[in-house]
Amino acid sequence: MSNDIIGAAKPRIDGPDKLSGRARYAADHYPANLTYAYGVFSNIASGKIASIDVEKAKKQPGVIEIFHHDNFPKLHRSPSNFAQQNKVDEARLPFEDNNVYYGGQFVALVVADTFENARDAAHFVDVTYQESKPVTSLTAALKNGDPKQAKSSRHTRGDADSAFASAAHQVDVTYTTPVETHNPMEMHATTADWNNGNLTFYEASQGVVFAKNTIAAVFGINPARIDARAPYIGSGFGSKLWIWPHAVAATAASRELGRPVQLVVPRAQMFTTTGHRPATHQNLKLGADANGKLQAIVHDSVNSTSFVGNYVETCGSVTKSLYDCSNVRVTHATAQVNQGTPTSMRAPGAAPGLFALESAIDELAEKIGMDPLALRKANYTETDGSKSLPFSSIHLMECYEKGAKEFGWDKRTPEIGSMKNGTEILGWGMAACNWEALKRDCNARVALRADGTAFVSCATQDIGTGTYTIVAQTAADVLGLPLDKIHVELGDSAYPSGPLSGGSWASASALPAIHAAAKKAADQLKGYAVEEDAVFADAKTDDLSLADGKLSLKGGQSVDFVQILQKRKVAEAFGEAYTTGATGDEYSFRSFGAHFVEIGWDPGISRLRVNRVVSAIDCGQIVNTKTASNQVEGAIAMGIGMALFEQTEYDHRSGMPVNNNYAEYLVPTHADYPEDVNVLLLDYPDYKFNDLGIRGIGEIGITGMAAAVANAVYHATGKRVRDLPIRIEDLM
Ligand code: MOS
Repeated sequence: MSNDIIGAAKPRIDGPDKLSGRARYAADHYPANLTYAYGVFSNIASGKIASIDVEKAKKQPGVIEIFHHDNFPKLHRSPSNFAQQNKVDEARLPFEDNNVYYGGQFVALVVADTFENARDAAHFVDVTYQESKPVTSLTAALKNGDPKQAKSSRHTRGDADSAFASAAHQVDVTYTTPVETHNPMEMHATTADWNNGNLTFYEASQGVVFAKNTIAAVFGINPARIDARAPYIGSGFGSKLWIWPHAVAATAASRELGRPVQLVVPRAQMFTTTGHRPATHQNLKLGADANGKLQAIVHDSVNSTSFVGNYVETCGSVTKSLYDCSNVRVTHATAQVNQGTPTSMRAPGAAPGLFALESAIDELAEKIGMDPLALRKANYTETDGSKSLPFSSIHLMECYEKGAKEFGWDKRTPEIGSMKNGTEILGWGMAACNWEALKRDCNARVALRADGTAFVSCATQDIGTGTYTIVAQTAADVLGLPLDKIHVELGDSAYPSGPLSGGSWASASALPAIHAAAKKAADQLKGYAVEEDAVFADAKTDDLSLADGKLSLKGGQSVDFVQILQKRKVAEAFGEAYTTGATGDEYSFRSFGAHFVEIGWDPGISRLRVNRVVSAIDCGQIVNTKTASNQVEGAIAMGIGMALFEQTEYDHRSGMPVNNNYAEYLVPTHADYPEDVNVLLLDYPDYKFNDLGIRGIGEIGITGMAAAVANAVYHATGKRVRDLPIRIEDLM
């Protein structure tokens, strides 16, 4: 991959469709006879439904049916088999029984002729409860008893306890992070349309193949009967990876009524019934010798989970491999609270985990009297100690050096509050970032068509990150066609099976398959071209090349590829390819990076802001510098949100979320985003990982960001904030 299309800063090819409103999302589909569903949601966090009176609600205009635990059809709990691409995010299906496990749980579903009528009637459903005292926070849950250890994500090597006890320098601190809620612009939504036992399922989904398989399992039907579609989604950040209760509820209602049903989850219930990042308590013990060489790392974490799922936030997932250290213990545990079921949120585990680890590394540097960057460099390794395997491709040292140079780190004076700009005290902090490089099986189909275009299809999806564009670039690179001649179709489970848009693995999984399929399509074309009576009848296919829409013979003539197809009387030359998600066991595959952050603290007016960020990222081959930079820039924004703003607040009397709306759940606005953000993409292809050298870039940018901000805040103020988000009250 070495021409001007791979690595170019191409704008998104789906941009015009989105800006002009041609792009249709899950709730933009209106099949004939469409009905609209609206939920009734529990307003207690724990207990039982004592009674549901629907009589008054049923008499409201336009009401067609009201479902609840007494009349909802019996379905099958999905086995959640990841290998079979099947997973519900909340093990309990909606309306299974009269138990209430969290505030904002579906307790009834009103279906009416219009959205407004369904919503109005929902207010007339009269639910009474037998309320029990809810567990409203992770802290409260831990008071009730020991958390449940998660054995599968544990790691130990060496003897961390004794190495820590005998270390010259020690840090033993606890960090806490709050519940954070995904707030994609597009609401969760389902439009379910059954026809003769076949289902068309429009879902705001990060994975149409998983959606298809999961709905098939829940409804006990052959997956071939389901077409799951998500050609466009307004992002998800992990909340749309797997099926939530609303999708099951709408699909069941549609089947019962014999009419299509559309259900949009209200923003308030996106804080309860479609996942969140759980709260974490993390204890870090770091031991180092006099020179700052790490002797021991212990990272024990516990996260909140619900009573209807067991979600583990793997906070120590990076801790076990980031630094050179022989004595390491990483443990994870969960404690149940009366909140909806948590799920993956951008860089699950690593985002809160690196807040703790990379804050603790700075605390250790302070104790030793070392520069925080020098301490990290002193513990640099090119071997994954948790697997005893070399990293396939690591340029973290270059990230440290390039980032530091661009930022001007050598001008940092270490004394607290020693750097100023007018009324602002400046703080400079940094942190490493890290994410596993993952990939999955993928199939793709590419066709060169007699109308002069290429058609690419794959059942992965573009969640707003630029997948359409990089898929088109990959096909264009092989086929020698301009981008506007490449037609890309994603987000439909009818296409060749592709990966979830998650785990930062979509690009690394899909692009090699698309590349291989495009090559096969070109090969088929060349095969046609050298057949008897064809244009290049006597040529060898190896001497043919495809560029600018023409097939050319080395030292000979060029012919429009369309002519070859026309002469052969075929509509297309196509290729189908499969690439494996298997990676072998010789290397550890990870991506690396470093954030450098300047904060400004103005004590006179108690203003804290992030002024400047430099992030150097080592993510393999960069396919599109624009969309790749956008991913890191967005992740920096989300990391600033994690550091300074985001927290889902619960009323500790009732367990109900309080700031469940866009006004009160704070995320960074444009005014909070630094004017000066510089993303340095290192662009070293990792050919040990896949043929194209691509690793993902969606998640790594958020990791370490909150620690870099916290470290900068400490440098400015001398206040070590170990409980996110950092608020101005913490600094006054
Ligand atoms: Mo990501 S949390 O796998 O969408």
